[in-house]
Amino acid sequence: MALNVLVTGGAGFIGSHTTVALQQAGYQVVVLDNLCNSSLAVLQRIEQITGIAPGFVQADIRDQHALEAVFQAHKISAVIHFAGLKAVGESTQKPLDYYDNNVNGSVQLLLAMQQAKIKTFIFSSSATVYGDPQELPITEQHPRSVTNPYGHTKLVVEDILESIYKAETGWRIARLRYFNPVGAHPSALIGESPQGVPNNLMPYVAQVAMGQRSTLQIFGNDYDTPDGTGVRDYIHVMDLAQGHVAALHYCQQQEQDLLTVNLGTGQGYSVLDMVRTFEEVSQAKVDYEIVARRAGDIAACWADTTLAKQKLGWQASKNIKTMCEDAWRWQLAMTP
Ligand code: NAD
Ligand code: UD1
Repeated sequence: MALNVLVTGGAGFIGSHTTVALQQAGYQVVVLDNLCNSSLAVLQRIEQITGIAPGFVQADIRDQHALEAVFQAHKISAVIHFAGLKAVGESTQKPLDYYDNNVNGSVQLLLAMQQAKIKTFIFSSSATVYGDPQELPITEQHPRSVTNPYGHTKLVVEDILESIYKAETGWRIARLRYFNPVGAHPSALIGESPQGVPNNLMPYVAQVAMGQRSTLQIFGNDYDTPDGTGVRDYIHVMDLAQGHVAALHYCQQQEQDLLTVNLGTGQGYSVLDMVRTFEEVSQAKVDYEIVARRAGDIAACWADTTLAKQKLGWQASKNIKTMCEDAWRWQLAMTP
């Protein structure tokens, strides 16, 4: 019997790729999404890839009645929780929206799960909880610190999950700390569709290569890194999706557990590495200018991936060339 999994935010960037990976691993997926940062078309695209239409409920995670109805209608065994707001800059301007959506939303979801006696939960946390790293690579033991409301919402939900785990037996919780997800499904049917000016590097690079934006601004070349530009651990979104399938397998095998694990490749690349690789695969020029550092940015960040290998038997397999190729194919497919 296939297990039913509820994927909140399953129409979004990481949720849609994870839905594909879950279906391909034999799970039945019900997506719950309010479509505030995604569209219905994504659900059809998922079906095109896998041949299976995921269940879909258009609802907000803060809507208790909707959650109750989902848990009554489907025999859900586990919840993978992606739904939330994710723009760091916006979170400093609209902190209450972020606390309401990300923290209150998670609490409402967990309350509904408690009521329905569902105790397997996988949470999208972020490497942002490590703040400015004191040492590299970053292990899960690295102290946490955050500098903006978005990061704080991740930290608070991590703590809420720990409190629940300590208070009640039987919870199987994975707190997954993503590094920098990029790329798209190789079919180019799903990918990342940022609204307005992209905040993150790779969608911006793709739009410059496409000619939709003239120049990439590189935020600083005076960091203490090999070429002076910021270094990050970019991970292909399909590798990340597989990491969720591995985390779900892991949880199902435990009687109870609270696992906190990095999902990254363990390799850092600079902004210039990414720009050059993108130019190579797209055969397009990515014009750039060096500007001042972005407030709140760190010099370098990459994961220690030992625990993920050990606990989940998972490691990333796609290199930056594949990440750029898939991002470019998606950019071409998206452009009318
Ligand atoms: P996304 O915006 O593409 O997906 C989020 C989805 O959740 C969207 O489809 C949106 O419509 C939905 N949603 C938002 N609020 C909702 C609510 N209240 N009720 C129901 N649906 C709601 O973002 P993503 O990049 O796929 O990120 C998924 C999760 O991973 C987020 O929690 C994010 O904070 C976390 N994360 C993302 C990154 C990243 O770089 N993309 C890095 C670390 C962690
Ligand atoms: C950002 C978020 C972080 C989130 C992560 C993954 C901020 C301050 N932090 O981190 O909370 O977890 O995304 O989604 O927004 N860069 C440029 N020009 C650009 C865009 C980026 O030079 O136009 C550089 C940045 O300085 C950085 C690198 O590219 O060195 C990656 O940036 P980005 O994609 O925004 O990710 P993070 O800064 O790691």
